[in-house]
Amino acid sequence: MKIQIINGPNLNMLGKREPEIYGSQSFETYLAALRKQFAGVQLDFYQSNIEGELIDKMQEVGFEYDGIVLNAGAYTHTSIALQDCIRSLACPVIEVHISNVHKREEFRHHSMLSCACIGVIAGFGLESYRLAIEYLTTGFPRPFQ
Ligand code: DQA
Repeated sequence: MKIQIINGPNLNMLGKREPEIYGSQSFETYLAALRKQFAGVQLDFYQSNIEGELIDKMQEVGFEYDGIVLNAGAYTHTSIALQDCIRSLACPVIEVHISNVHKREEFRHHSMLSCACIGVIAGFGLESYRLAIEYLTTGFPRPFQ
């Protein structure tokens, strides 16, 4: 099984960026633990601060991989281009957020992406990623298949 994790803008700063919101662990450290936990799964990771590069990566893997776990950062709230991209893919995309965006500023309450994703996980810290991978790797009922 192959799962692609994609992080958008400013998420390369995890561990340093607003630790009271996003925690003090770097994504690389967390990813090593995830890879141990899901040893039988190919977990690939990509981060970019550039919208078009996120689209390029999703188009590259979206017809081959079993799922994408996407934290698009602030593009979540603005990007029709990412929404169109998610709609065009063959594999499921799960939208994740480290923080509970609904507890934060109002502009974070709306996602341009949720309507194109199979589901959304937000507010569990870095564990939001693990919960998404659990879903993709276990036999939970698939609501849209
Ligand atoms: C975020 C929430 C977004 O509103 C914000 O712009 C981010 C991170 C999260 O993981 O909580 O960059 O996606």
